[in-house]
Order: sequence, then structure tokens, then C-alpha cells
Amino acid sequence: MAREQRIQLTVNGRTYEKTVPVRLSLADFIREHLNLTGTHLGCEHGVCGACTISLNGRSARSCLTLAVQADGAEIITIEGLRAEDGTRHPVQQAFHENFAVQCGFCTPGMLITTIELLQENPNPTEEEVREALSGNLCRCTGYVRYYAALREAILADPKLTR
Ligand code: FES
Ligand code: FES
Repeated sequence: MAREQRIQLTVNGRTYEKTVPVRLSLADFIREHLNLTGTHLGCEHGVCGACTISLNGRSARSCLTLAVQADGAEIITIEGLRAEDGTRHPVQQAFHENFAVQCGFCTPGMLITTIELLQENPNPTEEEVREALSGNLCRCTGYVRYYAALREAILADPKLTR
């Protein structure tokens, strides 16, 4: 069986073609082969959500996905959320304005998951926000302030689902 495979995929609007080990995780591919280190690794077995990326429009654990499984995929990482002129994505801006981060380790995964939630449900209840983000663990445990600030910002700005 081949130990390496050629893959082509689009990450943050840029197309890459690379030969990768068949057992390489997508998280390691993104971090080490593309040097996009904003995708973080915590547990590396699907529990914490730190490695969450958008894979063909759905949030996915990049630590549980092999790079070869993403052949042909469209991926968005935290680095792809800003506009070309550097403007923050509205959800990033909401996090920023509402101090919805502490150390920031969980933040990339939180942002990707939040944006997916808002694309599916632009006006979530607090319960729905909590449910959607229940798979993203924050070791700084700032959940109460985080949920309250985020919900306030979401309701204040209908552009958040951009
Ligand atoms: S590093 Fe992927 S879920 Fe924790
Ligand atoms: S802000 Fe520190 S892990 Fe969430």
C-alpha cells in the first residue's frame, strides 16, 4: 500500500497540491505543511474542539481527519476569516469587542463553530449557542461571560453571518 499520496485542496481560497504521508492528520498538514498555526491542537482525539476548521462548509475536527481525506476539499481556517484588507470577520470583531477570550487557545475553534451556527441559525437562543459550542472546551473556563457577550453582539449586528 502506498505510504504517500498526492492531494489537491483549497485552503482559505488558495489551492495547494502536495504529496503527503497517508497517515498525516489534516491538523498537522495545515500547521506543518501550510504553516497555518492558528489551528490549535489540544487533546488530539476529538474531544476539545481546538482544532476545528471548516471543511466543505461544515465544522470538522482536523485532528480526526486525515489529510488525504480532504483531497479536493475547500477548507477555511482561522487565518481565512479576515477580509483581504485585514478587516476582522464580524464574529471575530464581536469576540474582540466583548472580551470573549482569555488565553485564546480555544478561540479559533470557537470562532469556526460559531460562524457555522450563525449560518444555520442567525438568531440562536442562549440555549442553542450553548448546545452548538458544547464541543469546544475552554480551559480558561470563561463560559458565562463568553456566552453573554457573544449573544449580545450577535443580536446587535445582523451582518455577523457574513
Ligand atoms: S485537538 Fe482536535 S478535538 Fe482536541
Ligand atoms: S480562552 Fe483560554 S482556553 Fe479558552
